[in-house]
Amino acid sequence: LLVNASEASGRPIPETLFGLFFEEINHAGAGGIWAELVNNRGFEAGGPNTPSNINPWSVIGDQSSVIISTDRTSCFNRNKVALRMEVLCDTEGTNICPAGGVGIYNPGYWGMNIEQGKTYKVVLYVKSLELINVTVSLASSNGSQTLSSSNIIAASSDVSNWTKVEVLLESKATDHNSRLQLTTTRKGVIWFDQVSAMPLDTYKGHGFRKELVEMLVSLKPRFIRFPGGCFVEGEWLRNAFRWRETIGPWEERPGHFGDVWMYWTDDGLGYFEFLQLSEDLDALPIWVFNNGISHNDQVDTASVLPFVQEILDSIEFARGDPDSTWGSVRAAMGHPEPFDLRYVAIGNEDCSKKNYRGNYLKFYYAIKGAYPDINIISNCDGSSRKLDHPADLYDFHIYTSANNMFSMAHQFDHTPRTGPKAFVSEYAVTGKDAVTGSFLAALAEAGFLIGLERNSDVVEMASYAPLFVNANDRRWNPDAIVFNSWQQYGTPSYWVQQFFAESSGATILNATLHENSPTSLFASAITWQNLKDDSNYLRIKVSELALI
Ligand code: AHR
Repeated sequence: LLVNASEASGRPIPETLFGLFFEEINHAGAGGIWAELVNNRGFEAGGPNTPSNINPWSVIGDQSSVIISTDRTSCFNRNKVALRMEVLCDTEGTNICPAGGVGIYNPGYWGMNIEQGKTYKVVLYVKSLELINVTVSLASSNGSQTLSSSNIIAASSDVSNWTKVEVLLESKATDHNSRLQLTTTRKGVIWFDQVSAMPLDTYKGHGFRKELVEMLVSLKPRFIRFPGGCFVEGEWLRNAFRWRETIGPWEERPGHFGDVWMYWTDDGLGYFEFLQLSEDLDALPIWVFNNGISHNDQVDTASVLPFVQEILDSIEFARGDPDSTWGSVRAAMGHPEPFDLRYVAIGNEDCSKKNYRGNYLKFYYAIKGAYPDINIISNCDGSSRKLDHPADLYDFHIYTSANNMFSMAHQFDHTPRTGPKAFVSEYAVTGKDAVTGSFLAALAEAGFLIGLERNSDVVEMASYAPLFVNANDRRWNPDAIVFNSWQQYGTPSYWVQQFFAESSGATILNATLHENSPTSLFASAITWQNLKDDSNYLRIKVSELALI
């Protein structure tokens, strides 16, 4: 490899080149980076009607001692379902409650990780017309060991209306597969709603699971695209991500069923939290929104204006003054300063859909009119032909074999050097070359990324996909970070991304391979200055894949 290290040979790589794509897939958010331990905290997973689906809540006690049902008596208007618990047993009389009492438990997302010495905040809403004595406890998976508990004793006059109760539980032992229990040995009827359990210790105190965010921090991401993916589109529009339903007090969020990846989310990780995560990572937020198109239905362009207004409102929420209509909602959530929202993407993988261009243009002109500085990303590929609509960037997705990925290092070599820049927002080697993560896949991706570095005059951003997988819910393979309730590791693809972390904002040098080098070899050389130790660094990356 011949590297010309003279300053004149160098070209700056965009500050934004490498970042993250976060999708609510594989329980990446609910049961993942969002530290909430309770799954289905409002008993709402069946939707607004009753009987609702209370899974994974389960009953402690048999039918002779407790009857569990749902009704629509909650004090929260956007999520009316509450749990009604009728206790038939007591401490005396003919029907004595079993030791430990009867009630309900929630195992979280394949077990709650409860650690010795750590404190967990449990919040719940309760109502009863009788005196209540409820034990809130963290217990082992079969309930036989109690890790921590507290009693809620209240006179009927104190709980005859819905009452919020907060309990701090410090655990005396560690169990990675625990559950939260609400039990009693008193006869009567008690209603519960909106039950939450969170560790006090979260990333920057913002509710994110620390060890998982730390894995993101070490990738030095310059942007984070969210919240999907297909998750943004939905199989049907009625199940798409609607930002307004995901903001405000957590108790008042209705939650929704993501019908592409087939699981319920309480939406504790909502639009505000995504913006907060971006800020906490010092990464620019990239808001991908639904443009009136799902996998199976589409809004006609003539009727898309309410959707456009919804998105203008979302931008005002992110960056409007604290006294603007939506900026004030953000301020009330504790963030009076605007978030640094500079990029939005109109839809996800919708370019070939009938109404895409029509809807796109409505969004494009409305957003540019109100926020001329916002960069707008189109779903249509502009790498090989000119776009037929205005855009600042175009989205490019590629999932393929190792050989193809490696040879795609040349994908942008012949792209016109003017016009919108590429955002390679989803790339990964998939299939038998990768399975759940492999060195072969990572090597091929390294070759591809070298190609992106070399073409970074026309490629402004790139992110691997998907980012996370909860090992208990593998909806998509491979992924960059694998975790369960208490452990995590990076696949080889994760470590390749870390190897490229310094590239954003670095200088790419003129590096040429010896003329007899095999075509199976790609290389690049970058330099950057580390302001912390005032040193200059040179990194040479070479990736070779024997094409077969
Ligand atoms: O990354 C997984 C999925 O792949 C995304 O949801 C979608 O955009 C793409 O098809």
